[in-house]
Amino acid sequence: MENESFSATKQTIPLLKPFSMRSFNLSHRIVMAPMARMRSYGNVPQPHAALYYSQRATPGGLLISEATGISETAMAYQNMPGIWRKEQVEAWKPIVNAVHSKGGFFLCQLWHAGRVSHRDCQPNGEAPISSTDKPLAADSSNEYTPPRRLRTDEISTVVNDFRLAARNAIEAGFDGVEIHGAHGYLIDQFMKDTVNDRTDEYGGSLENRCRFTLEVIEAVTNEIGADRVGIRLSPFANYMESGDSEPQKLGIYMAESLNRFEILYCHMVEPRMKTASEAFECTESLTPMRNAFEGTFIVAGGYTREDGNKAVAEGRTDLVAYGRLFLANPDLPRRFQLEAPLNKYDRTSFYTSTDPVVGYTDYPFLETAD
Ligand code: PHB
Repeated sequence: MENESFSATKQTIPLLKPFSMRSFNLSHRIVMAPMARMRSYGNVPQPHAALYYSQRATPGGLLISEATGISETAMAYQNMPGIWRKEQVEAWKPIVNAVHSKGGFFLCQLWHAGRVSHRDCQPNGEAPISSTDKPLAADSSNEYTPPRRLRTDEISTVVNDFRLAARNAIEAGFDGVEIHGAHGYLIDQFMKDTVNDRTDEYGGSLENRCRFTLEVIEAVTNEIGADRVGIRLSPFANYMESGDSEPQKLGIYMAESLNRFEILYCHMVEPRMKTASEAFECTESLTPMRNAFEGTFIVAGGYTREDGNKAVAEGRTDLVAYGRLFLANPDLPRRFQLEAPLNKYDRTSFYTSTDPVVGYTDYPFLETAD
């Protein structure tokens, strides 16, 4: 049980103040960021994920799932989960139930990798699809098959795959979805001008490059309701060769364009996260996007407890998503509340498919008597 001084602390810590996001009555502002964990064998989420997510669930806390493929062509790395087949939908149900039974809210992050893929992960060994046929250079962990540029008349099929996946997410029991529009994956491949070299109505101007994203938002909001749909964007990132020549303009355009859909939230990755690993010094900020977007704003990218509290206190965001810190601290909200020390994350086990325990469900909870 909490004692009185404990509750008093709670009200004075910005991240621990409740927040109403439409029908989601959040008891605090510490969101679990989406993180790929590569432990979904055969692209089917496994029972061990129920423990992983429920360890991190709190009454009234918001969790976002790992990137989850919307279709067969969406897949990239081994052992990422999907949500296009009945078997996958059924497999998500007990995982979602486990989060709900702790009182948490759970959104499914809907993902299409686009060209960040290899023919070995594609149906019939075909080339991955993208906005472009420009290949992505190999990196230290993966090689990528040169993509096939989608024909204009094929784009609506992919939009429809997002719609169907959103329906499946609701069927699996999720409270809603987050559209993955970040980090160089398919949606980002349309938005970023260093990748998108199309000459049809999906390429060229900013408006044209953002058309696909907005069509996905429109289809998904029509299918499951705008109050169950969020989006994640990383206008400043150049992860997976996804840079843009005018990231601030892109970010503001998207924030403004999203307003008409009245979606649940806009989640943006900080400019200091050019890649998905470590932060660096940077003077750009998300404030213009925060100001342009009329709904709930979530920020992510290398936040500590201190600067998360500061960002909320200064009104620069409503909610803060924590990735690596939440991965290594299943009881992160409690640790923030108590200003307790944090477990350190072990990067070597972030993506170890073979072990459903180590670096996954074995990070210790705080041991205190209450
Ligand atoms: C990301 O969004 O940064 C991301 C998605 C899927 C991965 C890794 C990173 O497997």
